[in-house]
Amino acid sequence: MTEGRKVGILGSGTVAQRLGRGFAEHRFDVMLGTRDPKKLEEWKAASHGKVSVGSFAAAAAHGEIVVLATAGSGTEAALDLAGPEHFIGKLVLDASNPLDFSHGMPPGLLYGTSDSLGERVQRKLSHARVVKCFNTVSHAQMVDPHFREGIPLMMICGDDPGAKAETEKILRELGWPGALDVGGIDAARWLEALVPLWVRVGGRLETYEHAFRAVR
Ligand SMILES: NC(=O)c1ccc[n+]([C@@H]2O[C@H](COP(=O)([O-])OP(=O)(O)OC[C@H]3O[C@@H](n4cnc5c(N)ncnc54)[C@H](OP(=O)(O)O)[C@@H]3O)[C@@H](O)[C@H]2O)c1
Repeated sequence: MTEGRKVGILGSGTVAQRLGRGFAEHRFDVMLGTRDPKKLEEWKAASHGKVSVGSFAAAAAHGEIVVLATAGSGTEAALDLAGPEHFIGKLVLDASNPLDFSHGMPPGLLYGTSDSLGERVQRKLSHARVVKCFNTVSHAQMVDPHFREGIPLMMICGDDPGAKAETEKILRELGWPGALDVGGIDAARWLEALVPLWVRVGGRLETYEHAFRAVR
């Protein structure tokens, strides 16, 4: 059913590369978007399945689903370059985090906890269906996760119930047991706020392949 389903991924870093390769391995038709397509030539040559590389606008236009995987500080600029008209009606999975490295490591949050990047993206792309997803786990675990102590549900949030149901389906196809829906897009404040904690916990555990799991 997902055979050839088109995904545009905005980004060229480790997250975009891992998600791009993973979606392609699961038979999606993937295009990565960047300001400098030349830097993804090696990635493209080493990937299997349907992969291509283009500008932010080309990748956004390509995707029925668009994934945001740019540095949080550049996400809104990337959306301007991509052209908000390319997102109308689409499912947008926002994996980016508004991390503030101005005081070094570990990071803080660019917008504190009275706003979030997820909300800013939804405000900018008011005709898209934005779901915060992937932002609380390492790039290495985003597709076919392999946690030794059990795979958690992926924490997601967004305003559109249909978009969240669609996201959960995609997550299952990528090897996740399902999604934990923590609320509307305003809950992105708290999914994003988990990340500075995730970095601190990773420092303590000496791994960045960990994740938070709700247990009861
Ligand atoms: N690393 C992880 O394990 C992990 C896990 C969860 C979430 N995340 C989040 O995922 C996102 C991507 O992380 P990453 O480590 O793969 O990459 P990154 O180094 O944080 O970001 C690189 C990407 O950001 C784009 N970018 C940076 N500034 C920009 C600007 N001013 N305008 C337009 N685009 C700009 C770059 O565009 P060009 O391609 O044009 O250079 C590039 O595609 C981040 O928000 C991060 O917090 C990361």
